[in-house]
Amino acid sequence: MGKQAGLPHISRRLSTPAALALGVLFGMLVSRLFPWTATTPGWRSNHVPPKSHQQSRQPIQLPTLEQRARVLNLLTSLSPHYTKECTRNAQPLYIQQATERYAALIGHKGPSSGSWFSRFFADDADSHGRSSRKDLVPSDHKYFFAINLYNSFDIIPDLFATLFRVSAILGYHNVFVSIYENGSTDQTKALLRIFDALTRSVGMRITIRTSMRTRGAFNHRIEYLAEVRNAAFVPLHELRDAENEYFDTIVFMNDVLPCVDDILELIYQSRTNNAGITCAADYMYHDEIGAPVFYDNWVARDINGTALENAPFERIFHHAESAQRFQRHLPVQVQSCWNGIAVLDPEPFYTPPHVRFRMARITEGECSASECSLICNDYWEAGYGRILMVPRVKLAYDRKVFDIVHPPRRNLTAIRGYARIGGLPDDPRSDPQDRAWFGPHDRLFTEEESQPLEFVPGPSHVWCWGWDGAGDLDGPDVDPIWERVSNKSMRPDAVKVRHDRSIPKI
Ligand SMILES: *[C@@H]1O[C@H](CO)[C@@H](O)[C@H](O)[C@H]1NC(C)=O
Ligand SMILES: *[C@@H]1O[C@H](CO)[C@@H](O)[C@H](O)[C@H]1NC(C)=O
Ligand SMILES: *[C@@H]1O[C@H](CO)[C@@H](O)[C@H](O)[C@H]1NC(C)=O
Ligand SMILES: *[C@@H]1O[C@H](CO)[C@@H](O)[C@H](O)[C@H]1NC(C)=O
Repeated sequence: MGKQAGLPHISRRLSTPAALALGVLFGMLVSRLFPWTATTPGWRSNHVPPKSHQQSRQPIQLPTLEQRARVLNLLTSLSPHYTKECTRNAQPLYIQQATERYAALIGHKGPSSGSWFSRFFADDADSHGRSSRKDLVPSDHKYFFAINLYNSFDIIPDLFATLFRVSAILGYHNVFVSIYENGSTDQTKALLRIFDALTRSVGMRITIRTSMRTRGAFNHRIEYLAEVRNAAFVPLHELRDAENEYFDTIVFMNDVLPCVDDILELIYQSRTNNAGITCAADYMYHDEIGAPVFYDNWVARDINGTALENAPFERIFHHAESAQRFQRHLPVQVQSCWNGIAVLDPEPFYTPPHVRFRMARITEGECSASECSLICNDYWEAGYGRILMVPRVKLAYDRKVFDIVHPPRRNLTAIRGYARIGGLPDDPRSDPQDRAWFGPHDRLFTEEESQPLEFVPGPSHVWCWGWDGAGDLDGPDVDPIWERVSNKSMRPDAVKVRHDRSIPKI
Protein backbone atom coordinates (compact mmCIF):
# COMPACT_ATOMS: atom_id res chain seq x y z
CA MET A 1 0.00 0.00 0.00
CA GLY A 2 2.68 2.41 1.11
CA LYS A 3 4.42 2.01 -2.22
CA GLN A 4 1.61 3.93 -3.90
CA ALA A 5 1.80 6.86 -1.52
CA GLY A 6 2.92 9.29 -4.19
CA LEU A 7 0.21 8.34 -6.64
CA PRO A 8 -3.05 9.79 -5.32
CA HIS A 9 -1.79 13.33 -5.68
CA ILE A 10 -0.94 12.81 -9.31
CA SER A 11 -4.10 10.96 -10.15
CA ARG A 12 -6.30 13.79 -8.95
CA ARG A 13 -4.90 15.98 -11.65
CA LEU A 14 -4.95 13.37 -14.41
CA SER A 15 -7.87 12.28 -16.50
CA THR A 16 -9.23 8.85 -15.67
CA PRO A 17 -7.72 7.02 -18.68
CA ALA A 18 -4.33 8.55 -18.05
CA ALA A 19 -4.50 7.63 -14.38
CA LEU A 20 -5.49 4.10 -15.32
CA ALA A 21 -2.63 3.76 -17.75
CA LEU A 22 -0.27 5.08 -15.12
CA GLY A 23 -1.69 2.61 -12.63
CA VAL A 24 -1.15 -0.28 -15.00
CA LEU A 25 2.40 0.80 -15.73
CA PHE A 26 3.11 1.33 -12.08
CA GLY A 27 1.57 -2.01 -11.20
CA MET A 28 3.70 -3.73 -13.80
CA LEU A 29 6.79 -2.05 -12.46
CA VAL A 30 5.99 -3.02 -8.89
CA SER A 31 5.27 -6.58 -9.90
CA ARG A 32 8.61 -6.83 -11.64
CA LEU A 33 10.51 -5.52 -8.66
CA PHE A 34 8.72 -7.52 -6.03
CA PRO A 35 7.50 -11.09 -6.13
CA TRP A 36 3.72 -11.48 -6.08
CA THR A 37 3.41 -13.03 -2.67
CA ALA A 38 5.18 -10.23 -0.88
CA THR A 39 3.15 -7.23 -2.02
CA THR A 40 0.47 -7.02 0.69
CA PRO A 41 0.58 -7.99 4.32
CA GLY A 42 -2.67 -9.96 4.26
CA TRP A 43 -6.10 -8.98 5.45
CA ARG A 44 -6.41 -5.95 7.64
CA SER A 45 -9.45 -3.87 8.38
CA ASN A 46 -9.54 -0.56 6.59
CA HIS A 47 -11.33 1.08 9.47
CA VAL A 48 -8.99 3.55 11.08
CA PRO A 49 -9.99 5.79 13.96
CA PRO A 50 -10.59 9.35 12.71
CA LYS A 51 -7.61 11.62 13.06
CA SER A 52 -7.87 15.27 13.77
CA HIS A 53 -6.02 16.37 10.64
CA GLN A 54 -7.93 14.10 8.26
CA GLN A 55 -8.75 15.68 4.93
CA SER A 56 -12.39 15.99 4.04
CA ARG A 57 -11.86 14.84 0.46
CA GLN A 58 -10.24 11.42 0.20
CA PRO A 59 -8.22 10.77 -2.95
CA ILE A 60 -9.18 7.56 -4.75
CA GLN A 61 -6.53 4.90 -4.53
CA LEU A 62 -5.89 2.70 -7.50
CA PRO A 63 -6.03 -1.02 -6.73
CA THR A 64 -2.71 -2.77 -6.52
CA LEU A 65 -1.88 -5.46 -9.02
CA GLU A 66 -2.59 -8.08 -6.40
CA GLN A 67 -5.97 -6.57 -5.58
CA ARG A 68 -6.81 -6.61 -9.26
CA ALA A 69 -5.73 -10.22 -9.52
CA ARG A 70 -8.13 -11.03 -6.67
CA VAL A 71 -11.00 -9.26 -8.43
CA LEU A 72 -10.16 -11.10 -11.61
CA ASN A 73 -10.02 -14.38 -9.75
CA LEU A 74 -13.39 -13.75 -8.21
CA LEU A 75 -14.99 -12.71 -11.48
CA THR A 76 -13.69 -15.57 -13.53
CA SER A 77 -14.60 -18.19 -10.97
CA LEU A 78 -18.02 -16.73 -10.12
CA SER A 79 -19.37 -15.98 -13.52
CA PRO A 80 -18.69 -18.77 -16.02
CA HIS A 81 -21.63 -21.08 -16.25
CA TYR A 82 -22.13 -22.49 -19.72
CA THR A 83 -18.50 -22.09 -20.74
CA LYS A 84 -17.03 -23.27 -17.46
CA GLU A 85 -15.91 -26.63 -18.75
CA CYS A 86 -14.46 -25.39 -22.03
CA THR A 87 -10.81 -25.73 -21.20
CA ARG A 88 -10.80 -26.96 -17.65
CA ASN A 89 -10.02 -30.63 -18.28
CA ALA A 90 -8.01 -30.16 -21.43
CA GLN A 91 -5.47 -32.84 -22.18
CA PRO A 92 -1.92 -31.89 -21.18
CA LEU A 93 -0.52 -31.98 -24.69
CA TYR A 94 -3.18 -29.50 -25.86
CA ILE A 95 -2.39 -27.16 -22.98
CA GLN A 96 1.23 -27.27 -23.95
CA GLN A 97 0.43 -26.63 -27.62
CA ALA A 98 -1.98 -23.77 -26.83
CA THR A 99 0.43 -22.18 -24.37
CA GLU A 100 3.17 -22.12 -26.99
CA ARG A 101 0.84 -21.14 -29.84
CA TYR A 102 -0.62 -18.12 -28.07
CA ALA A 103 2.43 -17.04 -26.05
CA ALA A 104 3.26 -14.32 -28.57
CA LEU A 105 -0.18 -12.75 -28.00
CA ILE A 106 0.60 -12.02 -24.34
CA GLY A 107 0.37 -8.29 -23.78
CA HIS A 108 1.94 -7.86 -20.39
CA LYS A 109 5.11 -8.87 -18.70
CA GLY A 110 5.59 -9.87 -15.12
CA PRO A 111 7.11 -12.68 -13.14
CA SER A 112 3.77 -14.43 -12.97
CA SER A 113 2.70 -14.15 -16.59
CA GLY A 114 3.26 -17.84 -17.15
CA SER A 115 0.92 -18.91 -14.39
CA TRP A 116 -1.73 -16.31 -15.22
CA PHE A 117 -1.77 -17.57 -18.74
CA SER A 118 -1.78 -21.30 -18.25
CA ARG A 119 -4.28 -21.06 -15.42
CA PHE A 120 -6.90 -20.33 -18.04
CA PHE A 121 -6.32 -23.70 -19.59
CA ALA A 122 -5.95 -26.04 -16.67
CA ASP A 123 -5.56 -26.27 -12.93
CA ASP A 124 -2.39 -28.31 -12.97
CA ALA A 125 -0.73 -26.46 -15.81
CA ASP A 126 2.33 -25.80 -13.69
CA SER A 127 3.60 -29.31 -14.19
CA HIS A 128 3.35 -29.20 -17.98
CA GLY A 129 4.34 -26.98 -20.79
CA ARG A 130 4.78 -23.91 -18.71
CA SER A 131 8.01 -22.19 -19.30
CA SER A 132 8.86 -18.82 -17.90
CA ARG A 133 9.31 -16.87 -21.09
CA LYS A 134 11.95 -14.38 -20.11
CA ASP A 135 12.59 -13.86 -23.82
CA LEU A 136 9.03 -12.68 -24.38
CA VAL A 137 8.47 -9.09 -25.40
CA PRO A 138 4.97 -8.08 -24.33
CA SER A 139 2.78 -7.29 -27.30
CA ASP A 140 1.28 -3.82 -27.66
CA HIS A 141 -1.14 -4.91 -30.37
CA LYS A 142 -4.46 -3.18 -29.60
CA TYR A 143 -7.80 -4.95 -29.71
CA PHE A 144 -11.23 -3.41 -30.09
CA PHE A 145 -14.09 -5.70 -29.01
CA ALA A 146 -17.42 -4.66 -30.53
CA ILE A 147 -20.45 -6.46 -29.13
CA ASN A 148 -24.17 -6.19 -29.93
CA LEU A 149 -26.55 -7.47 -27.30
CA TYR A 150 -30.30 -7.81 -27.16
CA ASN A 151 -32.14 -9.59 -24.32
CA SER A 152 -28.87 -11.26 -23.33
CA PHE A 153 -29.29 -11.56 -19.55
CA ASP A 154 -28.53 -15.26 -19.60
CA ILE A 155 -25.22 -15.07 -21.41
CA ILE A 156 -23.70 -11.83 -20.09
CA PRO A 157 -21.88 -13.44 -17.13
CA ASP A 158 -20.18 -15.98 -19.41
CA LEU A 159 -19.43 -13.37 -22.00
CA PHE A 160 -17.65 -11.20 -19.44
CA ALA A 161 -15.87 -14.12 -17.82
CA THR A 162 -14.42 -14.91 -21.25
CA LEU A 163 -13.61 -11.26 -21.95
CA PHE A 164 -11.77 -10.90 -18.63
CA ARG A 165 -9.72 -14.00 -19.26
CA VAL A 166 -8.89 -13.17 -22.87
CA SER A 167 -7.93 -9.64 -21.85
CA ALA A 168 -5.73 -10.89 -19.04
CA ILE A 169 -3.72 -12.58 -21.77
CA LEU A 170 -3.82 -9.80 -24.38
CA GLY A 171 -3.13 -7.16 -21.71
CA TYR A 172 -5.89 -5.06 -20.13
CA HIS A 173 -4.30 -1.88 -21.43
CA ASN A 174 -4.45 -3.30 -24.98
CA VAL A 175 -8.19 -4.02 -24.89
CA PHE A 176 -11.16 -1.73 -25.41
CA VAL A 177 -14.68 -3.15 -25.13
CA SER A 178 -17.60 -1.45 -26.82
CA ILE A 179 -21.08 -2.80 -26.19
CA TYR A 180 -24.21 -1.58 -27.87
CA GLU A 181 -27.49 -2.84 -26.56
CA ASN A 182 -30.80 -1.97 -28.19
CA GLY A 183 -34.25 -2.23 -26.78
CA SER A 184 -33.86 -5.23 -24.44
CA THR A 185 -37.00 -6.07 -22.49
CA ASP A 186 -35.27 -8.19 -19.83
CA GLN A 187 -32.76 -7.09 -17.17
CA THR A 188 -29.87 -6.90 -19.66
CA LYS A 189 -29.31 -3.20 -18.94
CA ALA A 190 -29.09 -3.70 -15.17
CA LEU A 191 -26.66 -6.58 -15.53
CA LEU A 192 -24.53 -4.58 -17.94
CA ARG A 193 -24.23 -1.79 -15.37
CA ILE A 194 -22.76 -4.22 -12.86
CA PHE A 195 -20.23 -5.58 -15.32
CA ASP A 196 -19.38 -2.09 -16.47
CA ALA A 197 -18.22 -1.29 -12.93
CA LEU A 198 -16.39 -4.59 -12.49
CA THR A 199 -14.59 -4.20 -15.80
CA ARG A 200 -13.33 -0.78 -14.80
CA SER A 201 -12.19 -2.10 -11.44
CA VAL A 202 -9.58 -4.31 -13.12
CA GLY A 203 -8.39 -1.45 -15.29
CA MET A 204 -10.03 -2.36 -18.58
CA ARG A 205 -11.65 0.26 -20.75
CA ILE A 206 -15.26 -0.25 -21.64
CA THR A 207 -18.12 1.71 -23.18
CA ILE A 208 -21.65 0.43 -22.82
CA ARG A 209 -24.35 2.22 -24.74
CA THR A 210 -27.92 1.21 -24.40
CA SER A 211 -30.78 2.37 -26.47
CA MET A 212 -34.51 2.03 -26.65
CA ARG A 213 -34.54 2.74 -30.37
CA THR A 214 -36.50 0.22 -32.31
CA ARG A 215 -36.84 -0.67 -35.91
CA GLY A 216 -39.70 1.74 -36.42
CA ALA A 217 -37.48 4.66 -37.38
CA PHE A 218 -36.04 2.80 -40.37
CA ASN A 219 -37.64 1.86 -43.65
CA HIS A 220 -35.53 -1.13 -44.34
CA ARG A 221 -34.74 -4.01 -42.03
CA ILE A 222 -31.10 -4.22 -43.13
CA GLU A 223 -30.66 -0.50 -42.73
CA TYR A 224 -31.71 -0.92 -39.12
CA LEU A 225 -29.43 -3.93 -38.50
CA ALA A 226 -26.50 -2.09 -40.09
CA GLU A 227 -27.18 0.90 -37.86
CA VAL A 228 -27.12 -1.31 -34.75
CA ARG A 229 -23.75 -2.75 -35.76
CA ASN A 230 -22.28 0.64 -36.64
CA ALA A 231 -23.34 1.91 -33.22
CA ALA A 232 -20.86 -0.50 -31.61
CA PHE A 233 -18.11 1.07 -33.73
CA VAL A 234 -18.73 4.64 -32.64
CA PRO A 235 -15.97 4.55 -29.95
CA LEU A 236 -13.48 3.31 -32.57
CA HIS A 237 -13.88 6.56 -34.46
CA GLU A 238 -14.17 8.68 -31.33
CA LEU A 239 -10.88 7.36 -29.95
CA ARG A 240 -9.13 8.04 -33.22
CA ASP A 241 -10.46 11.58 -33.41
CA ALA A 242 -10.02 12.50 -29.76
CA GLU A 243 -6.91 10.58 -28.68
CA ASN A 244 -5.31 9.64 -31.99
CA GLU A 245 -5.61 6.05 -30.81
CA TYR A 246 -5.65 3.35 -33.48
CA PHE A 247 -6.50 -0.31 -33.02
CA ASP A 248 -4.80 -3.21 -34.77
CA THR A 249 -7.56 -5.82 -34.58
CA ILE A 250 -11.34 -5.72 -34.16
CA VAL A 251 -13.23 -8.63 -32.61
CA PHE A 252 -16.95 -8.42 -33.41
CA MET A 253 -19.25 -10.66 -31.40
CA ASN A 254 -22.92 -11.48 -31.39
CA ASP A 255 -24.61 -13.07 -28.40
CA VAL A 256 -22.59 -16.28 -28.61
CA LEU A 257 -20.60 -18.17 -26.00
CA PRO A 258 -17.01 -18.62 -27.11
CA CYS A 259 -14.33 -20.24 -24.99
CA VAL A 260 -11.13 -18.35 -24.23
CA ASP A 261 -9.13 -20.39 -26.72
CA ASP A 262 -11.81 -19.92 -29.41
CA ILE A 263 -11.16 -16.19 -29.40
CA LEU A 264 -7.39 -16.65 -29.19
CA GLU A 265 -7.46 -19.03 -32.17
CA LEU A 266 -9.48 -16.59 -34.29
CA ILE A 267 -7.03 -13.82 -33.43
CA TYR A 268 -4.13 -16.16 -34.14
CA GLN A 269 -5.49 -17.12 -37.57
CA SER A 270 -6.44 -13.54 -38.39
CA ARG A 271 -2.94 -12.31 -37.66
CA THR A 272 -1.05 -15.30 -39.09
CA ASN A 273 -2.92 -14.83 -42.37
CA ASN A 274 -3.05 -11.02 -42.27
CA ALA A 275 -6.71 -11.57 -42.99
CA GLY A 276 -9.30 -8.91 -43.68
CA ILE A 277 -12.05 -10.93 -42.02
CA THR A 278 -11.77 -14.16 -40.02
CA CYS A 279 -14.81 -16.01 -38.77
CA ALA A 280 -15.69 -19.08 -36.78
CA ALA A 281 -18.27 -21.74 -37.68
CA ASP A 282 -21.65 -21.54 -35.96
CA TYR A 283 -24.18 -24.31 -35.42
CA MET A 284 -27.88 -24.53 -34.69
CA TYR A 285 -29.94 -27.59 -33.85
CA HIS A 286 -31.98 -28.94 -36.75
CA ASP A 287 -35.04 -30.76 -35.42
CA GLU A 288 -35.74 -32.87 -38.52
CA ILE A 289 -32.14 -33.97 -38.95
CA GLY A 290 -31.74 -34.39 -35.21
CA ALA A 291 -28.26 -32.88 -35.14
CA PRO A 292 -26.60 -29.47 -35.23
CA VAL A 293 -26.24 -27.99 -38.71
CA PHE A 294 -24.20 -25.07 -39.99
CA TYR A 295 -26.22 -21.93 -39.30
CA ASP A 296 -25.23 -18.64 -40.93
CA ASN A 297 -25.66 -19.54 -44.60
CA TRP A 298 -27.34 -16.24 -45.35
CA VAL A 299 -23.87 -14.67 -45.25
CA ALA A 300 -21.39 -17.50 -45.81
CA ARG A 301 -20.21 -18.02 -49.43
CA ASP A 302 -17.41 -20.32 -50.52
CA ILE A 303 -14.58 -19.05 -52.73
CA ASN A 304 -16.64 -19.95 -55.83
CA GLY A 305 -19.42 -17.68 -54.58
CA THR A 306 -21.77 -20.56 -53.71
CA ALA A 307 -23.77 -20.47 -50.48
CA LEU A 308 -22.84 -22.84 -47.69
CA GLU A 309 -25.63 -25.19 -46.64
CA ASN A 310 -27.72 -25.48 -43.48
CA ALA A 311 -26.59 -29.09 -43.40
CA PRO A 312 -24.53 -31.51 -41.33
CA PHE A 313 -20.80 -30.86 -41.51
CA GLU A 314 -20.01 -33.16 -44.44
CA ARG A 315 -22.41 -31.36 -46.77
CA ILE A 316 -21.81 -27.72 -45.86
CA PHE A 317 -19.41 -26.83 -48.69
CA HIS A 318 -20.12 -27.36 -52.40
CA HIS A 319 -16.64 -26.23 -53.45
CA ALA A 320 -14.70 -29.52 -53.40
CA GLU A 321 -11.34 -28.22 -52.26
CA SER A 322 -12.90 -26.16 -49.46
CA ALA A 323 -14.98 -29.14 -48.36
CA GLN A 324 -11.81 -31.17 -48.09
CA ARG A 325 -10.03 -28.64 -45.92
CA PHE A 326 -13.14 -28.16 -43.81
CA GLN A 327 -13.34 -31.91 -43.10
CA ARG A 328 -9.80 -31.76 -41.80
CA HIS A 329 -10.49 -28.75 -39.58
CA LEU A 330 -8.13 -26.56 -41.59
CA PRO A 331 -8.84 -22.85 -42.17
CA VAL A 332 -10.73 -22.30 -45.43
CA GLN A 333 -10.65 -19.25 -47.70
CA VAL A 334 -14.19 -18.01 -48.39
CA GLN A 335 -15.78 -15.13 -50.25
CA SER A 336 -17.88 -14.07 -47.29
CA CYS A 337 -18.74 -15.20 -43.77
CA TRP A 338 -19.74 -13.93 -40.35
CA ASN A 339 -20.88 -16.84 -38.16
CA GLY A 340 -21.27 -15.30 -34.72
CA ILE A 341 -17.75 -13.91 -34.24
CA ALA A 342 -15.65 -12.14 -36.82
CA VAL A 343 -12.15 -10.76 -36.38
CA LEU A 344 -11.56 -7.77 -38.64
CA ASP A 345 -8.58 -5.81 -39.83
CA PRO A 346 -9.60 -2.23 -38.89
CA GLU A 347 -7.64 -0.64 -41.72
CA PRO A 348 -10.58 -0.31 -44.19
CA PHE A 349 -12.52 1.48 -41.42
CA TYR A 350 -9.73 4.01 -40.91
CA THR A 351 -8.66 4.64 -44.48
CA PRO A 352 -10.66 5.28 -47.66
CA PRO A 353 -13.10 3.93 -48.72
CA HIS A 354 -14.02 3.95 -44.99
CA VAL A 355 -16.19 0.83 -44.93
CA ARG A 356 -19.14 0.64 -42.60
CA PHE A 357 -22.11 -1.62 -42.22
CA ARG A 358 -24.71 -0.63 -44.77
CA MET A 359 -27.75 -1.79 -46.66
CA ALA A 360 -27.62 -2.53 -50.37
CA ARG A 361 -27.63 0.35 -52.86
CA ILE A 362 -30.92 -0.81 -54.24
CA THR A 363 -31.28 2.08 -56.65
CA GLU A 364 -27.99 1.01 -58.28
CA GLY A 365 -29.35 -2.50 -58.68
CA GLU A 366 -27.29 -4.05 -55.88
CA CYS A 367 -28.82 -7.22 -54.48
CA SER A 368 -30.25 -6.72 -50.99
CA ALA A 369 -27.85 -8.98 -49.08
CA SER A 370 -27.08 -8.98 -45.37
CA GLU A 371 -25.08 -6.06 -43.99
CA CYS A 372 -22.40 -8.66 -43.15
CA SER A 373 -22.21 -9.95 -46.74
CA LEU A 374 -22.00 -6.39 -47.98
CA ILE A 375 -19.13 -5.54 -45.66
CA CYS A 376 -17.29 -8.63 -46.94
CA ASN A 377 -17.87 -7.40 -50.52
CA ASP A 378 -16.61 -3.96 -49.50
CA TYR A 379 -13.48 -5.53 -47.98
CA TRP A 380 -12.81 -7.26 -51.32
CA GLU A 381 -13.36 -4.02 -53.16
CA ALA A 382 -10.98 -2.19 -50.82
CA GLY A 383 -8.28 -4.81 -51.46
CA TYR A 384 -8.75 -6.66 -48.14
CA GLY A 385 -10.30 -9.80 -49.64
CA ARG A 386 -8.32 -12.18 -47.45
CA ILE A 387 -11.37 -13.74 -45.78
CA LEU A 388 -11.26 -17.09 -44.02
CA MET A 389 -13.31 -19.42 -41.89
CA VAL A 390 -11.82 -21.40 -39.00
CA PRO A 391 -13.67 -24.76 -38.64
CA ARG A 392 -11.93 -25.61 -35.36
CA VAL A 393 -13.80 -22.80 -33.64
CA LYS A 394 -17.36 -24.08 -33.29
CA LEU A 395 -19.93 -21.75 -31.79
CA ALA A 396 -23.35 -22.46 -30.36
CA TYR A 397 -26.28 -20.25 -29.49
CA ASP A 398 -27.67 -22.49 -26.76
CA ARG A 399 -26.69 -25.04 -24.17
CA LYS A 400 -27.97 -28.04 -26.10
CA VAL A 401 -25.80 -27.42 -29.14
CA PHE A 402 -22.87 -26.31 -27.00
CA ASP A 403 -22.89 -29.70 -25.26
CA ILE A 404 -23.07 -31.58 -28.56
CA VAL A 405 -20.22 -29.69 -30.22
CA HIS A 406 -17.97 -29.92 -27.14
CA PRO A 407 -18.38 -33.46 -25.77
CA PRO A 408 -16.10 -34.26 -22.83
CA ARG A 409 -12.99 -36.23 -23.68
CA ARG A 410 -13.03 -39.74 -22.26
CA ASN A 411 -9.89 -41.43 -21.03
CA LEU A 412 -9.72 -44.37 -23.42
CA THR A 413 -6.72 -45.88 -21.69
CA ALA A 414 -8.73 -46.20 -18.52
CA ILE A 415 -11.80 -47.52 -20.32
CA ARG A 416 -10.01 -50.13 -22.33
CA GLY A 417 -7.67 -51.08 -19.54
CA TYR A 418 -4.76 -51.20 -21.98
CA ALA A 419 -2.23 -50.57 -19.29
CA ARG A 420 -3.66 -53.41 -17.23
CA ILE A 421 -3.53 -55.94 -20.03
CA GLY A 422 -0.07 -54.83 -21.05
CA GLY A 423 -0.93 -52.93 -24.25
CA LEU A 424 0.45 -49.59 -25.32
CA PRO A 425 -1.22 -46.50 -23.89
CA ASP A 426 -3.51 -44.65 -26.30
CA ASP A 427 -1.75 -42.10 -28.46
CA PRO A 428 -3.26 -38.63 -27.98
CA ARG A 429 -2.20 -37.80 -31.56
CA SER A 430 -4.51 -40.43 -33.00
CA ASP A 431 -7.33 -40.43 -30.49
CA PRO A 432 -10.41 -41.80 -32.32
CA GLN A 433 -12.57 -39.25 -30.50
CA ASP A 434 -10.92 -36.52 -32.57
CA ARG A 435 -12.10 -38.18 -35.77
CA ALA A 436 -15.68 -37.26 -34.90
CA TRP A 437 -16.66 -33.84 -36.26
CA PHE A 438 -18.07 -32.71 -32.94
CA GLY A 439 -15.10 -34.04 -31.03
CA PRO A 440 -13.68 -32.80 -27.75
CA HIS A 441 -12.76 -29.12 -27.59
CA ASP A 442 -9.09 -29.87 -26.90
CA ARG A 443 -8.31 -31.49 -30.28
CA LEU A 444 -4.56 -31.30 -30.87
CA PHE A 445 -3.27 -28.84 -33.46
CA THR A 446 -1.79 -30.23 -36.64
CA GLU A 447 1.14 -28.56 -38.31
CA GLU A 448 -1.00 -27.47 -41.26
CA GLU A 449 -3.23 -25.41 -38.97
CA SER A 450 -0.33 -23.05 -38.34
CA GLN A 451 0.58 -22.52 -41.98
CA PRO A 452 -0.70 -19.38 -43.71
CA LEU A 453 -3.21 -19.96 -46.50
CA GLU A 454 -2.57 -19.31 -50.19
CA PHE A 455 -5.27 -16.79 -51.05
CA VAL A 456 -6.77 -16.70 -54.54
CA PRO A 457 -8.75 -13.84 -56.13
CA GLY A 458 -12.52 -13.75 -55.74
CA PRO A 459 -15.25 -15.33 -57.90
CA SER A 460 -17.00 -13.53 -60.75
CA HIS A 461 -20.47 -14.18 -59.36
CA VAL A 462 -21.86 -14.57 -55.87
CA TRP A 463 -25.13 -16.24 -54.90
CA CYS A 464 -27.26 -13.53 -53.36
CA TRP A 465 -30.48 -14.14 -51.56
CA GLY A 466 -32.04 -10.75 -51.07
CA TRP A 467 -34.20 -9.53 -48.24
CA ASP A 468 -36.17 -6.51 -49.27
CA GLY A 469 -37.42 -6.19 -45.72
CA ALA A 470 -40.74 -4.67 -46.61
CA GLY A 471 -42.82 -7.39 -45.04
CA ASP A 472 -42.23 -8.72 -41.57
CA LEU A 473 -40.66 -11.94 -42.78
CA ASP A 474 -37.78 -13.08 -40.64
CA GLY A 475 -35.39 -13.75 -43.47
CA PRO A 476 -34.65 -13.52 -47.19
CA ASP A 477 -37.81 -12.84 -49.18
CA VAL A 478 -36.57 -12.28 -52.76
CA ASP A 479 -35.66 -15.00 -55.26
CA PRO A 480 -31.91 -15.68 -55.11
CA ILE A 481 -29.69 -14.66 -58.04
CA TRP A 482 -26.09 -14.99 -59.15
CA GLU A 483 -24.88 -11.44 -58.76
CA ARG A 484 -21.90 -10.20 -60.74
CA VAL A 485 -19.19 -8.85 -58.43
CA SER A 486 -16.93 -5.91 -59.10
CA ASN A 487 -13.96 -6.62 -61.32
CA LYS A 488 -11.64 -5.31 -58.63
CA SER A 489 -12.18 -8.30 -56.38
CA MET A 490 -11.25 -10.72 -59.19
CA ARG A 491 -7.72 -9.33 -59.44
CA PRO A 492 -4.76 -10.78 -57.52
CA ASP A 493 -4.43 -7.33 -56.02
CA ALA A 494 -7.58 -7.94 -53.94
CA VAL A 495 -5.86 -10.57 -51.80
CA LYS A 496 -2.37 -9.19 -51.37
CA VAL A 497 -1.16 -8.29 -47.89
CA ARG A 498 -1.66 -4.58 -47.33
CA HIS A 499 -1.48 -4.33 -43.57
CA ASP A 500 1.01 -6.53 -41.81
CA ARG A 501 -0.49 -7.63 -38.50
CA SER A 502 1.44 -10.89 -38.28
CA ILE A 503 2.52 -12.27 -34.96
CA PRO A 504 6.20 -11.61 -34.27
CA LYS A 505 8.28 -14.79 -34.19
CA ILE A 506 9.63 -15.70 -30.79
C1 LIG B 1 -31.86 -5.16 -31.50
O1 LIG B 1 -30.88 -5.56 -32.41
C2 LIG B 1 -30.82 -6.93 -32.68
C3 LIG B 1 -29.67 -7.14 -33.58
O2 LIG B 1 -28.48 -6.90 -32.89
C4 LIG B 1 -32.14 -7.40 -33.26
O3 LIG B 1 -32.09 -8.79 -33.48
C5 LIG B 1 -33.26 -7.06 -32.33
O4 LIG B 1 -34.49 -7.40 -32.91
C6 LIG B 1 -33.23 -5.57 -32.00
N1 LIG B 1 -34.22 -5.24 -30.99
C7 LIG B 1 -35.36 -4.66 -31.26
C8 LIG B 1 -36.23 -4.34 -30.10
O5 LIG B 1 -35.71 -4.39 -32.38
C1 LIG C 1 -19.44 -22.07 -59.11
O1 LIG C 1 -20.03 -20.86 -59.50
C2 LIG C 1 -20.82 -20.89 -60.67
C3 LIG C 1 -21.35 -19.50 -60.92
O2 LIG C 1 -20.31 -18.59 -61.04
C4 LIG C 1 -21.96 -21.88 -60.53
O3 LIG C 1 -22.70 -21.95 -61.72
C5 LIG C 1 -21.41 -23.25 -60.16
O4 LIG C 1 -22.45 -24.13 -59.92
C6 LIG C 1 -20.53 -23.15 -58.93
N1 LIG C 1 -19.91 -24.44 -58.65
C7 LIG C 1 -20.05 -25.03 -57.44
C8 LIG C 1 -19.35 -26.32 -57.28
O5 LIG C 1 -20.68 -24.54 -56.53
C1 LIG D 1 -6.03 -42.24 -18.22
O1 LIG D 1 -6.11 -43.39 -17.41
C2 LIG D 1 -4.86 -44.04 -17.21
C3 LIG D 1 -5.11 -45.36 -16.49
O2 LIG D 1 -6.03 -45.19 -15.47
C4 LIG D 1 -3.96 -43.12 -16.41
O3 LIG D 1 -2.71 -43.71 -16.20
C5 LIG D 1 -3.76 -41.84 -17.23
O4 LIG D 1 -3.00 -40.91 -16.49
C6 LIG D 1 -5.10 -41.22 -17.59
N1 LIG D 1 -4.85 -40.15 -18.54
C7 LIG D 1 -5.34 -38.93 -18.37
C8 LIG D 1 -5.01 -37.95 -19.44
O5 LIG D 1 -6.00 -38.61 -17.41
C1 LIG E 1 -15.30 -6.17 -65.97
O1 LIG E 1 -14.91 -7.34 -66.68
C2 LIG E 1 -15.79 -7.73 -67.71
C3 LIG E 1 -15.35 -9.06 -68.30
O2 LIG E 1 -14.13 -9.48 -67.79
C4 LIG E 1 -15.88 -6.64 -68.78
O3 LIG E 1 -16.80 -6.99 -69.80
C5 LIG E 1 -16.30 -5.34 -68.12
O4 LIG E 1 -16.25 -4.28 -69.05
C6 LIG E 1 -15.41 -5.00 -66.94
N1 LIG E 1 -15.96 -3.84 -66.26
C7 LIG E 1 -15.24 -2.82 -65.88
C8 LIG E 1 -15.96 -1.69 -65.19
O5 LIG E 1 -14.04 -2.77 -66.03
